[in-house]
Amino acid sequence: MASAWGVAALSGLRRHAPRALLAFLLLLTLASLWLLQPTGENERLEGRRGHVDYGLPPLEHELNSSAQLQGVPAFVWEIPQLLIIGVMKAGTSALYYALCEHPRINCVAYVKEPFYLSSAEVAAQAREYHGLVQQERRRLFHLRYVQTVFNLTALSAGQVTLEASTTYLHSAAALTLITSRLMNADRIRMLVVLREPLSRALSHYNHEKRHGKQKATFGDAIAPELAILKSCHQQDTWLAQQNRLDEARPYEALYDCVQAESERYRLAKRRALPGYLFKSLYLWHLRPWLAAVPDRLHFVLHEHFRRDPITELAQLQRNIGLEEFDYESVREEITHEFQEGSRYNRFSGPMIHELALLFRAHNDLLELAIGMPLPWNEALERGHFVIPIE
Ligand SMILES: *[C@@H]1O[C@H](CO)[C@@H](O)[C@H](O)[C@H]1NC(C)=O
Ligand SMILES: *[C@@H]1O[C@H](CO)[C@@H](O)[C@H](O)[C@H]1NC(C)=O
Repeated sequence: MASAWGVAALSGLRRHAPRALLAFLLLLTLASLWLLQPTGENERLEGRRGHVDYGLPPLEHELNSSAQLQGVPAFVWEIPQLLIIGVMKAGTSALYYALCEHPRINCVAYVKEPFYLSSAEVAAQAREYHGLVQQERRRLFHLRYVQTVFNLTALSAGQVTLEASTTYLHSAAALTLITSRLMNADRIRMLVVLREPLSRALSHYNHEKRHGKQKATFGDAIAPELAILKSCHQQDTWLAQQNRLDEARPYEALYDCVQAESERYRLAKRRALPGYLFKSLYLWHLRPWLAAVPDRLHFVLHEHFRRDPITELAQLQRNIGLEEFDYESVREEITHEFQEGSRYNRFSGPMIHELALLFRAHNDLLELAIGMPLPWNEALERGHFVIPIE
């Protein structure tokens, strides 16, 4: 909304300068008040998830950029040092709040999931800094991100700042901004929490059903994604028979097909697929990150983290070079994030069995791609899932 108004106000600026300028300034003030308003804890966690609109005017209209960049402390260009980029329904909140307990980690983002770097308006804006030299554009973009997402008064030098947005893994915009536009694009580290893919899909479905975003049965809800997956697998098998698959990247043709079919669906139906199955095809989304920043991706397995968070956290902090910290004192807080209600959904039957077979192949490829054993196929073989309704 704010974005559309902002653009309208700007194009009108030339014709009705004084009035439009006033309106525009008022709008800016309202927008910044809205962005800066303190919110209650529940709202902070839930209220703005998925509804954040970063519609901001293009920076070219904020004329004097050198004035803005003057006196910005150097540590701002290092923020954030750590990002949790995915995946949804795999325990990213539990991981985020656990890491926040580390004395060196600063959790000063206004919300747990700001989604800033995956926003289409933000990405468009990042391309739009006319008349500025490249370095200045990067600095301005980075500064605006930091100012919008983090509480700067709570920041200090020498700390590790963490941000978590599960949309980043699935976003081409986020990939570009994080790996080539932020000032610390060559240093920033990324954490990815992965969960057995079918459980994630079922939990995702439960979540949306519970929040009233999904009314269909699981079978109906996944039908279009399943149809695409099957037809792409068929095409893939045919390509393999013709020896036309790229041996080094056997999954490439399959995921390209899924991508193209999803896009066709989006254009035809004017809405995106919910992604219950597709967001669980982790390798599809990870490919470009693995190509761009293989050494700065750190994986956490949901199943291990949930079973033994203290050991997993100790391992993770070693991997990312943080000082030893004993999370035992906050074990209760961590497990609290995983606490479930008393209601469960059971999923089994032929369709679940079919899905389990489909995901097995992807898990094997993923295992190879990230060089990490995945403990998921046993659950898939059972073909019987009991997923808490959170
Ligand atoms: C821009 O800011 C710099 C530094 O504050 C100042 O010296 C310069 O005069 C300003 N330029 C304009 C056009 O306002
Ligand atoms: C920002 O941080 C300061 C210092 O910790 C705190 O006093 C203030 O309430 C925070 N502001 C918001 C909006 O969270």
